[in-house]
Amino acid sequence: MDTIIEKVDSHITGNEPNAALDAATEILKKGGLVAIPTETVYGLAGDALNPDAARKIYEAKGRPSDNPLIVHIANEEDLKKIAKDIPEAAYKLMDVFWPGPMTMIFNKTALVPSTTTGGLETVAVRMPSHHVAYELIRRSGIMLAAPSANTSGRPSPTDAAHVKEDLDGKIDMILDGGACHYGIESTIIDMTSDVPTILRPGYITRDMLEEVVGKVQVDPGLESTSLNIRPKAPGMKYTHYAPKGIMYIVEGSSANGIIRCINRMVKERQAAGCKVGVLATRRNASAYEADEVIVIGDREDELMISSNLYRALREFDTRGVDYIYSESFEGDGLGDAIMNRLIKAAGHRVIQAPTI
Ligand code: TXA
Ligand code: MG
Repeated sequence: MDTIIEKVDSHITGNEPNAALDAATEILKKGGLVAIPTETVYGLAGDALNPDAARKIYEAKGRPSDNPLIVHIANEEDLKKIAKDIPEAAYKLMDVFWPGPMTMIFNKTALVPSTTTGGLETVAVRMPSHHVAYELIRRSGIMLAAPSANTSGRPSPTDAAHVKEDLDGKIDMILDGGACHYGIESTIIDMTSDVPTILRPGYITRDMLEEVVGKVQVDPGLESTSLNIRPKAPGMKYTHYAPKGIMYIVEGSSANGIIRCINRMVKERQAAGCKVGVLATRRNASAYEADEVIVIGDREDELMISSNLYRALREFDTRGVDYIYSESFEGDGLGDAIMNRLIKAAGHRVIQAPTI
């Protein structure tokens, strides 16, 4: 199949006709697939209430069909059609964080096909703030099931070109709305438990949520390195977000110690004939002696780091490195979400730099 690529103004609002959104609507009505920009990452969208569309999504991504999809909506009435037992706390969170990078999990109604929810009796729901995604849902009246628009296992796409790299010829259309603002996927919160539970960290942090609803907990399966405690979000159990090169994260108490440790490992790999990359913060970048050094941003600017993360991992693939060494990022808040993605990209390979 030929994949149509259309640019759409990322500030689109109102009701002025838009040919690309109209074409996308026609495709979605017929059960086809359209990749859409969101404020987090690009999503691969199909009609959430059409089980055939959900099947096509799994197939195009090469995704295991037990891994449920997030349903994207544009108003609260739609939420009531697909979710039940919605607690008061959820309304408070919606008021503050929707539209935006927050996904909530509820018990599902019979309207939602089990193909969309990977066989679960719960449904994940999010109202995106990106104008193209939001307007497409609002104008078409179609709720969109959309996982990240990458081939399963690859870094999520934060640009239309990344979607093309992975899915060209496999989907009907790509709406190009430019680069994604946050660059990492939404925070997922399970609202079916007594205490709201974070299943995937993201831009909306635990502190931000607690300010609105009081106590919020974190899924123990997320923080555990033990393979016996499974994360509750099925998608979090897969090695994921991975670049092709083998990646290591280097932690340490001083920048100099980390730089020295990385340079030593780079030299060893190069001596063995390998091409080696380093994922660096701006201040340290010139100190690395690797084949490919990619600057991810300023350490102080976490939003810059999150929005560049997946692009950087894909860039290492393009440059064909065999090994990648990355600095680590500490902290609460967004730094936590960044580390969650990096650790998965590195398949949990974390090295402690010796103190000097
Ligand atoms: O920011 C985002 O959330 C992006 C954009 C496109 O909206 N979407 C996204 O979807 O990241 P995906 O499919 O790549 O990740 C969805 C995650 C998976 O880990 C999945 O297992 C989990 O959400 N999930 C979905 N429905 C769930 C449910 N009912 N219960 C538990 N986890 C669920
Ligand atoms: Mg994904």
